[in-house]
Amino acid sequence: MHKDPGTRLKDTHLTQFAPDVLAGLYLPLFMFNGKRTVEYDAREGLFLVRLETAFRNRLAPGQFPYPFWHNEAKWNTYQGANSILLWVDPKMARIKVAQFTDRGAAPPIVGSEPIAQPQFDGRWMWTDAAGRMQPQVTLFDGLFRADNPYLPKLDAAYRTLALRMRDAQCDSCHVPNNPDGMKRLVLLQTPAHAAGEIQRLMKAVRDDTMPRDETGIEQPLDVDLKSALLESGGAFEALLGAAKDWEAKRTQ
Ligand code: HEC
Repeated sequence: MHKDPGTRLKDTHLTQFAPDVLAGLYLPLFMFNGKRTVEYDAREGLFLVRLETAFRNRLAPGQFPYPFWHNEAKWNTYQGANSILLWVDPKMARIKVAQFTDRGAAPPIVGSEPIAQPQFDGRWMWTDAAGRMQPQVTLFDGLFRADNPYLPKLDAAYRTLALRMRDAQCDSCHVPNNPDGMKRLVLLQTPAHAAGEIQRLMKAVRDDTMPRDETGIEQPLDVDLKSALLESGGAFEALLGAAKDWEAKRTQ
């Protein structure tokens, strides 16, 4: 979220996303009309692309990667969004940072009434009236084909990993409300978010750099929990690899 145009990127709170998570779960929440401006920002050493936009606030709750309305101000900024900012690194020709703002020059490209979402009940994932896990988009809906044979196994593997992460307190920090105030938040609270970070997750646990205590000091896991976490994380990682291989073969 882009609040104050004077703030340097390094002083901004950002969330880290794997490219497929940003492209598959977040950008589809916005509408575009193709209008954009490009300028070079000498202070950041980056090109800044501004895209006119509007936010699709009427999607079903399970189409959002998590209940953005856990924070009313945040939900309202999403609803009022009129620009997406893409910061492009000229050396790598890659997008380094993406932000959205309700303070762009033009009004949102589609006018819509703000919607009040139900009260957030503290759960990042929930079961809907039909007994399905939500948010649906975080269960690889739209990321993998519906007939990908690995989907049920991935679901089960994530549930096991999520329980181990809970035992290891990972969810006391790596969740959207960012209780630890991380400058570069890493989200792990759904299958798609954890999938995007699985390699770093495995490395952090293997190298004992995670979890941390509330003062930021590395807090070694007990041996059994560490091996349970690595085992369930490894199973999830292997299934993800198989699911992606299957997709790659189907699209050839
Ligand atoms: C007390 C808060 C806290 C807890 C608990 C915690 N983390 Fe973190 N985690 C952080 C912070 C802060 C960072 C950013 C660290 C940095 O870059 O200095 C981070 C970074 C990470 C990263 C990114 C590492 C990288 O490569 O940059 C991963 C992956 C991660 N944590 C996984 C986990 C896992 C898995 C658990 C549970 C076993 C866990 N964390 C528990 C606070 C926490």
